[in-house]
Amino acid sequence: MRKITISVPGKLILMGEHAVVYGKPCIVVAVSQRMQVAVEKIDETVFRLNAIDLDFENYQKPLTEIGIGEIPKEAKFAEIALLNFTSKYKIQSGVEITTRSDFSAQIGFGSSAAVAVGVIKSAAELFGLPLSQKEIFNLAYKTVLDVQGKGSGFDVAAAIYGGTLYFQTGGSIIEPLQTNGLNLVIGYSGVKADTVTMMNQVLGKMKNFKSGIDEIFNNIEKLVSEAKIAILDKDWQRVGTLMNYNQNYLEDLGVSTDKLNIMIEAAIKAGAYGAKLSGAGGGDCMIALVAPNKKLQVSYAIAEAGGQIININVNAPGVKVENL
Ligand code: PMV
Repeated sequence: MRKITISVPGKLILMGEHAVVYGKPCIVVAVSQRMQVAVEKIDETVFRLNAIDLDFENYQKPLTEIGIGEIPKEAKFAEIALLNFTSKYKIQSGVEITTRSDFSAQIGFGSSAAVAVGVIKSAAELFGLPLSQKEIFNLAYKTVLDVQGKGSGFDVAAAIYGGTLYFQTGGSIIEPLQTNGLNLVIGYSGVKADTVTMMNQVLGKMKNFKSGIDEIFNNIEKLVSEAKIAILDKDWQRVGTLMNYNQNYLEDLGVSTDKLNIMIEAAIKAGAYGAKLSGAGGGDCMIALVAPNKKLQVSYAIAEAGGQIININVNAPGVKVENL
C-alpha cells in the first residue's frame, strides 16, 4: 500500500524563551538534524505506532479508542495529533506510523513538536488533503496544548517553516529572517530538562512576584527586537552581546544551571561573540555565537567545560515530503 515518508527539522531557540509563552516574540532556528515520519494505510481498523528511537514498537489501539484512556508518554504526541487530524477531516482508516530521528529526544531539539507536525503533514499527504502551512500549524499547536497544557508553538513553527523565524506566541507573527552567516556552536549539558516543569517553575515565580517577572519579560522583548535588527544587519558582535544580556535575564528567572553557566562562560572566554542557554533551561543545550575562525577553539572550550558538542547546520528547510 502507499506509504508517505516526510522529514521534519529539529530546532534551537536563539533568544526569547519563556517570555514567548506570555505574548512576547522570540527568534528560533531550524537545524539540520531531522525526524522522519512514515505513514501508511492498513486494513485493520487500528492506529499502530513504531517509535524506533524510543524502543517503542507495535503500540496499537482501535481507531474508536484513539485519545481515550491512559496513553504511554512515547505515544502521546503522535496519538493526539492523529486524533486531531482524523476528527477535523472526518477520516476513518487504519494507519501505521513509524518515527525515526537523527537526534535524541533527550537534548531539547523539539522532538514532541516534530512528531505532531510529522503526523499531521504525512497524514494530510496520505489522504490527499492540501493543507496550508498555517492549517498544519494550527492543528499541531492544538496538539501541543492538548498534551502539555501550555507552550508558545515556536517549535511547531520551526518544524513547519524551517529557516530562522521571528515568532510571536501562538503564531500571531511568523516572519522568516535572512540569517546567512549565522554560526553557532552547540553544547549539550548532559542533563535532560523537562520543558513543562521549567514553565511551571516560572509560572510559580509569576504568582509570587508578577511585576518583577513582567519586567524581565518586557526587557527580553526589547532584546529580541534589537537582535532581529542586528541579525538582519549581520552585526554578529551585537547579536552576541544581546544574547549575553538575555542569558542574564534567564539566570534572574532561575532557569539556568551551574553546568550551563560554566559552559557559557568557557565559550565567551574562548572568544564567542555571545552565549546562552537555549530552550526551557534546567539542562539541555547552550549555544554560542561565533566567527567562523573561532568555531574550533570555542568548541574545545565547551567540551573542556564538560559539554558535548553537537554538530548541526542552521537554517534547515521545514517539513518536506521525502517520497511520492
Ligand atoms: O525546552 P524547549 O527547547 O522546548 O524550549 C522551551 C521554550 C519555552 O519558551 C520555555 C516554552 C515555549 O513553548 O515557548
